[in-house]
Amino acid sequence: MKLISSPREMQREALRLKRGGKKIALVPTMGALHEGHLSLVRLARRRTDVVVMSIYVNPTQFGPKEDFQRYPRPWKEDCRLAREAGVTHLFAPRELYAADASTWVEETTFSQGRCGAFRPGHFRGVTTVVMILFQLVQPDWAVFGQKDAQQCDVIERMIRDLHLPIKMLRAPIVRNRQGLALSSRNRYLSPEGLKTALKLSESLKRAAARGGERGRSCCGI
Ligand code: PAF
Repeated sequence: MKLISSPREMQREALRLKRGGKKIALVPTMGALHEGHLSLVRLARRRTDVVVMSIYVNPTQFGPKEDFQRYPRPWKEDCRLAREAGVTHLFAPRELYAADASTWVEETTFSQGRCGAFRPGHFRGVTTVVMILFQLVQPDWAVFGQKDAQQCDVIERMIRDLHLPIKMLRAPIVRNRQGLALSSRNRYLSPEGLKTALKLSESLKRAAARGGERGRSCCGI
């Protein structure tokens, strides 16, 4: 597994691979890897033998009161898991934005309702960083988890609207034995919080079974 931290070096490597006729799959993550992320890598590996995983805790998608500072960053463990899962290139930049960056990519329909209504700027941060990653990694496929269904909708729309030559793959949600979706943030849950999350997850499943909109989980439940 090749470790790359410089954005320019990542782009050079991607262009070199493309010139050599290779197809590239990108698995963008913020690290704190778990089985859900590894399932994205396995899906990517079915398409191509060049799998780039990015690990970057993107500051622009966190609100001022959100957990950017305390977001888990288990670097060594992440490297081990990525290598074992078959990632060929691990792109872990220290920074992706110029200090005076002033350009954003913003989707204005899906990203305004649902979660977007409660997290102003969140999806704009996501689309901007994903667009930057696309420019640097030049992927043919980009793999995202259906766990973040709203994020998938917003990115799919961006790909369509901007005519990006990228196919998006949605990987199915991976759940733990009790049925809770695996999520880096679910590590924060206290035993009490875990019980509540499970109840929420079960209630959503019951609602879906009664004819609600299927597969629309948004916050890892
Ligand atoms: O889903 C995530 O982990 C992040 O939102 C992403 C897509 C890596 C962008 O920072």
